[in-house]
Amino acid sequence: MRSVFNRIMKKNIVVLISGNGSNLQSIIDTIKRGKINGEIRAVISNKASAYGLTRAEQVNIPHFVFSRKDYDSNQSMDNAIAQKIDEFNTDLIVLAGYMKILTPEFTQHFQGKILNIHPSLLPKYAGLHTHQRAMEAGDTEHGMSIHFVNEEVDGGPVVLQAKVPIYPDDELDEVIERVREQEHRCYPLVIEWFCSNRLYCIDGKAYLDGKILSKQGYAID
Ligand code: GAR
Repeated sequence: MRSVFNRIMKKNIVVLISGNGSNLQSIIDTIKRGKINGEIRAVISNKASAYGLTRAEQVNIPHFVFSRKDYDSNQSMDNAIAQKIDEFNTDLIVLAGYMKILTPEFTQHFQGKILNIHPSLLPKYAGLHTHQRAMEAGDTEHGMSIHFVNEEVDGGPVVLQAKVPIYPDDELDEVIERVREQEHRCYPLVIEWFCSNRLYCIDGKAYLDGKILSKQGYAID
């Protein structure tokens, strides 16, 4: 009975962004097609200029801006965001290009409920300028990772990675675009795994369909 109940209940999702929001758009579009058992209840940005806010506005999703300048510390800003997130009975927080480091108090409060997407094959290239760093290192492949969030920046157990090739004559934009394509394909899929109770995180380990995921997560090419 409980599993039937779980399957029917839609998950409440809050998406955190800082910029363009192309990943947010891919999630909105997938929900619209009925492929995710969840609803985006709110979009939160730490940048008033983020285009993702316009994307939320276009489909009537409540959206909120929290600017660091309005708070006396990162902690008080994260507390305010956490309070807003709690107002929506949030089951899942999706970081979709949220470029501000979250405080440990925040990540602990929402343990096992935060997913992040990062444009590299973690643990390689945490942080910024990942595509450029991979190209400069002479890597022949790059990719993206989706992971649960813990206190470490771009840390936390990996759920899924997708690889793309880097060709010798590639321009930076071509690699960025190749990785982005994978992001738009993979993030909605992982969110659906979570929303259908197939994916969860216990004691710092990610499980899919009851099986612990490997260090690289569920790897697809
Ligand atoms: C994405 O490429 C995402 O992987 C990256 O920001 C971009 C946001 O694009 N996130 C990080 O680097 C997090 N460390 P979008 O705003 O168009 O979705």
